[in-house]
Amino acid sequence: MNQAIRPGPEIAQQSTGELQLSVVVPTFNERDNVTALFRKLETALAGIAWEVIFVDDNSPDATWQVVRDLARKDGRVRCIRRIGRRGLSGACIEGILASSAPCAAVMDADLQHDETQLAKMLALIEQGAAELVVGSRYVEGGNADSFDRARAGASAFATEIAKRVLGVRIADPMSGFFMIRRDRFEQLAPQLSTQGFKILLDLVATAHGELKTVEVPYSFGARLHGESKLDSMVALDFLGLVLAKFTHDAVSLRFLLFAMVGGSGLVVHLATLFAALNLFDLPFPEAQAAGALVAMTTNFVLNNFLTYRDQRLKGFSIVWGLLSFYLVCSVGLLANVGVAFSVYDQEPIWWLAGAAGALMGVVWNYAMSGLFVWRKR
Ligand code: GDD
Ligand code: MN
Repeated sequence: MNQAIRPGPEIAQQSTGELQLSVVVPTFNERDNVTALFRKLETALAGIAWEVIFVDDNSPDATWQVVRDLARKDGRVRCIRRIGRRGLSGACIEGILASSAPCAAVMDADLQHDETQLAKMLALIEQGAAELVVGSRYVEGGNADSFDRARAGASAFATEIAKRVLGVRIADPMSGFFMIRRDRFEQLAPQLSTQGFKILLDLVATAHGELKTVEVPYSFGARLHGESKLDSMVALDFLGLVLAKFTHDAVSLRFLLFAMVGGSGLVVHLATLFAALNLFDLPFPEAQAAGALVAMTTNFVLNNFLTYRDQRLKGFSIVWGLLSFYLVCSVGLLANVGVAFSVYDQEPIWWLAGAAGALMGVVWNYAMSGLFVWRKR
């Protein structure tokens, strides 16, 4: 009836057939790569009904703008722009949850992953041969020759740990290139960590061998433009993920980092106390207060750089963050002493009372810091 808004021939052609595949591409500063990737997908996925969802964490180079321009011209392209959040895993999870095809693939924007494997991966899932297909560098026919020696060593080491500690059976759990049935993903999604880089490892470990998995070899290429976002902090994220999965999520990565920073604070406190007493001849109460102040400050800085680096406070909010962190820690100290005292009252074992107080303090500080200092925007 409404002839005027009938789609033109181009659009009609794109919307025939039910969507088969959603490709999710996390991006951070990839403006020079996204168009090239889109063109490659067009070629590799000819004959398949697909869409691509770019999940961009508000890249300073405005990658999202390039994606929007593509999306305006081609309905198969979508853009999710996240503000105030960072993280590869979280971006992939959001992208897959926003997709609608029965299968979802995850790949880098920088052309390091081999898009020509996607059709084969899709066929494996559609035929029922797999629920998860992993693009693997470490099976026969695959390689990561573009890695330098340090990165190759780190990758091999992390893979060994994942296999031994978490009992993961696949050859390349560190791969960032995979395809999964969306219904299976959605069952696992609530247990996945949004922090960190290793979403595939998280998926495989969380599924406890219940995902029918096939690996297809591919050669990990060199980056087209720009540089890798993988830094040494990724190692910390990795350890945290392994620990969280190993303890069945009893300890989270963030809590672990927070507690580790707290431990470093104790060393800083004692060093400052020593210096204040011996070098500056301060009386004990002042020296102790100086120790606490310096330790709280270094803890704040470290937490801002490590524990909460995905929500890092910048500019003026650092001042407010620091002040509220002092406040949180002061109350935490009261809680610490209070708990230690009442435990000691029941059971006069000094180390038990001391440890209970310290645990109370760190749990309090952690919970309150998350609420008030690095609160989610
Ligand atoms: N949205 C978002 N947010 N995307 C991100 C972020 C982030 O914080 N950090 C990185 N990305 C995007 C990059 O823009 C890129 O498209 C993709 O995630 C992978 O990041 P790279 O910086 O290219 O990492 P890599 O090539 O060193 O490592 C990748 O490949 C390895 C081997 O498959 C990652 O996928 C690793 O997890 C993987 O082990
Ligand atoms: Mn890459």
